[in-house]
Amino acid sequence: MTTTIALITGANKGIGLETARQLGARGVAVLVGARDEERGLKAEKTLRAEGADARFIPLDVTDPESVQQAAERVDKEFGRLDILVNNAAISRGGPLSAATVRGGSPSETDLDAMRAIYETNVFGVIAVTNAMLPLLRRSPAARIVNVSSEVGSVTSMTDPASPLSRFPAGLAYPSSKTALNMITALYARELRDTSIKVNAANPGYTATDLNGHTGFRSVSEAAEVSVHLATLPADRPTGILWGHLWTAAGPQDAYGTLPW
Ligand SMILES: NC(=O)c1ccc[n+]([C@@H]2O[C@H](COP(=O)([O-])OP(=O)(O)OC[C@H]3O[C@@H](n4cnc5c(N)ncnc54)[C@H](OP(=O)(O)O)[C@@H]3O)[C@@H](O)[C@H]2O)c1
Repeated sequence: MTTTIALITGANKGIGLETARQLGARGVAVLVGARDEERGLKAEKTLRAEGADARFIPLDVTDPESVQQAAERVDKEFGRLDILVNNAAISRGGPLSAATVRGGSPSETDLDAMRAIYETNVFGVIAVTNAMLPLLRRSPAARIVNVSSEVGSVTSMTDPASPLSRFPAGLAYPSSKTALNMITALYARELRDTSIKVNAANPGYTATDLNGHTGFRSVSEAAEVSVHLATLPADRPTGILWGHLWTAAGPQDAYGTLPW
């Protein structure tokens, strides 16, 4: 049986590490993308100790040379890629503070911070996807998962009945995920006549470094969303935003397609 090869960006911690763990437990060979060698090797060691076929791959999604080198290495070692999880993201362009976690308000937007967020969350995804696409096209049924967020859903963020309409949010991070949603839809459209599926994942509000551990979901629950989309059978959709549904009733475990 051929081994499935998955690359997860930002896999040294948080939801990305857990996604690598869960895919590794299914027998998938996981390439642990990380921009820092020490952190990447630590994650590789942890996953290998748990029995996964995990390999650290240096990958800073904002560095074109690093992206190119990662693609060349995947090509050289495997000749194809079956799963790409565009997971790496940042939520603030500067140091962590309560205000930056909460995001300030649109009128307080720091443009430098916003540019830094877009470099990673938007341009980084496009760079990695385009570099890996020739390898994904060589897979019999490749899956691209763009880890997005419900805060990128214009409908949810502006629906008074949604808890998200009261969720404190600045401009940079939510709008970067709105851009990612459109990016997902348009890659899915371009690739609709191929066996490649491109979907956006909503992990739900999860306790990680990204939000100072204020989320109410576990990384294990969050990673299940990415794994679900990364292992979709052929008869399932492409070009949707799918994952945790946060309703007014509270943080129960409901899953489904979210509105754009
Ligand atoms: N947590 C939530 O509530 C939540 C909700 C919805 C969506 N998400 C999404 O879930 C994904 C994972 O987030 P998380 O909560 O697990 O955050 P996290 O714990 O902060 O992990 C983010 C990961 O991205 C990596 N990263 C950042 N910039 C990078 C770059 N330029 N190149 C490569 N890797 C980079 C980080 O590496 P370093 O360790 O080197 O910084 C880290 O491994 C993100 O796309 C996030 O937007 C999270």
